[in-house]
Amino acid sequence: MQYADLLIHSARMMATMKGFSERPARGEGMSEIGLIEEGAVAIRDGKIIAVGTTEEVRAGGWVGPNTVQISAEGKVVTPGFVDPHTHVLYAGSRENELSLKLKGVPYLEILKQGGGILSTVRSTKLATDQEVKDQTKRRLQTMLSMGTTTVEVKSGYGLMVEDELRALRLIHELAREQVLDLVPTFMGAHAVPPGYSEDEFTSYIVKDMLPRIAAEGLAEFCDVFCEPGVFSLDSSERILTKANELNFKLKMHADELDSAGGAELAAKLGVISADHLLQASDDGILALAKQGVIAVLLPATSFNLAKNSYARARAMISAGVPVALATDSNPGSSPTESMPLVLTLACLYLRLTPEEALMAATINAAHAIGRADQVGSLEVGKLGDVLILDIPNLNYLPYHFGSNPVEMVIKRGNVVWET
Ligand code: NIG
Ligand code: FE
Repeated sequence: MQYADLLIHSARMMATMKGFSERPARGEGMSEIGLIEEGAVAIRDGKIIAVGTTEEVRAGGWVGPNTVQISAEGKVVTPGFVDPHTHVLYAGSRENELSLKLKGVPYLEILKQGGGILSTVRSTKLATDQEVKDQTKRRLQTMLSMGTTTVEVKSGYGLMVEDELRALRLIHELAREQVLDLVPTFMGAHAVPPGYSEDEFTSYIVKDMLPRIAAEGLAEFCDVFCEPGVFSLDSSERILTKANELNFKLKMHADELDSAGGAELAAKLGVISADHLLQASDDGILALAKQGVIAVLLPATSFNLAKNSYARARAMISAGVPVALATDSNPGSSPTESMPLVLTLACLYLRLTPEEALMAATINAAHAIGRADQVGSLEVGKLGDVLILDIPNLNYLPYHFGSNPVEMVIKRGNVVWET
C-alpha cells in the first residue's frame, strides 16, 4: 500500500469543485461546488490520491505511520485559488496617480500624458533584474499568503522586444525561485510607446516581436489591450491572428472602458478568455456563450477605478458564459494581490453567490489559463494545492472582508504558509 504523505481531515465543509475538469462550469453548474461535510483529502508525492469524508478516506487505508495529519475541524477546505489575470511583474509603484484620479482625470488620459502603464514601463526599465524579481517576489508571497497557488503573469511593461523578452525570462526565473506555479503570457500590446503610431506599433508586434517571442518559447498565451484609444478592433485582430498562427493561446482585454465590440471579436477569434468586459454588449455576451469563451471578471479593478461600474456577471451567467475571477494585480488599475477581496467584491457588486464566486476563482480560473487538468479542484490526480480557511462556512468568506481568512496553504502537498 502506498500511504499518503499528508492527510487533511475533519473539515466542516470541503468544497471539491468536482466534475468540471473537462469543461468549465456555467449556468446553474456554477453553484455545484461538490461539497463534502467532515471532508478529507490525502496527498502523496504532491498529488491528490484520495478525497471523501474523513471516514471514507481513513477506511480506504491511505493513512500510514508516517502520514502527517492536519485537522481542519470546524473549518472550510477548498482548492488553492487560481488567479488567471495579473500584471504582477514590474518595478515601482504609482500612488502619485491617486490624486489625479481623485480629481477625476480618466485612466486613459493619464496614459496619454505619458503616465499610467508608460510610467511603469520606465520604472521597470530602470530597475535591475534582481530588483524587479525581488519586488515581484514580495507580491507573489502576499498572493500565496492569501491563498493563491497558481497565477498567470503577463509581460507588457517592456513594450520593445528586448524588454518584453527580459520580462518573460524573469517570469521563468521567478517560476523556478518561489513556490507558486506561474503561467506566462506575452502582452506586448499593452500600450503604444512614444514615437509610434498605433498602426506602426501593431506592425512592429506582428513582424518583429511575435516571431521572436514564439521562437524563444517563453509564453503560452498572447493578450491584447483591445480598447478604443489603445489597440482598436483591427489592430487587436491583426495581432491575435498572427499569435494564433504562431501557436499562442489567446486572451483579450475587452470592453473595459468603452463598448466597442471587443466581446464580439473575442468570440470571432475563439480566444480562451475575454477579460474585464464591463461594457460588453448583449450580443457580445451571447457570442461569448455560443463560443464557450471564458469571461474573466476583475471586480477589484472596477472598484479601484471608482466609477461605480461593474461587469454584468448575472447576464453572463444566465446566458451560459463560464465566469472566472482574477485580481488583475497591477500598479495602476488594481494594486492588490488579494483573491479573498476579489471574492467579496464579486459577491457584492457582480452579485455572484459565494458558491459561484468560489467556482470562478478555482476551476473556471484554471480553465482560463489552460491548467484545469492540474489544478482548480480537489480530485484524484490533481496537484495537492489546498487551503484551510479559518471560517465556519462558505458565506463567511465574502462576508468578512479586508482581513485574511487563510489559515494554511498547501502547495503540491507541502505546507508553504500558515498563520
Ligand atoms: O488590466 N487594462 C490594461 N492593463 C491593466 C492596467 C495596467 C496598468 O495600469 O499598469 C489592466 O487594468
Ligand atoms: Fe489586465
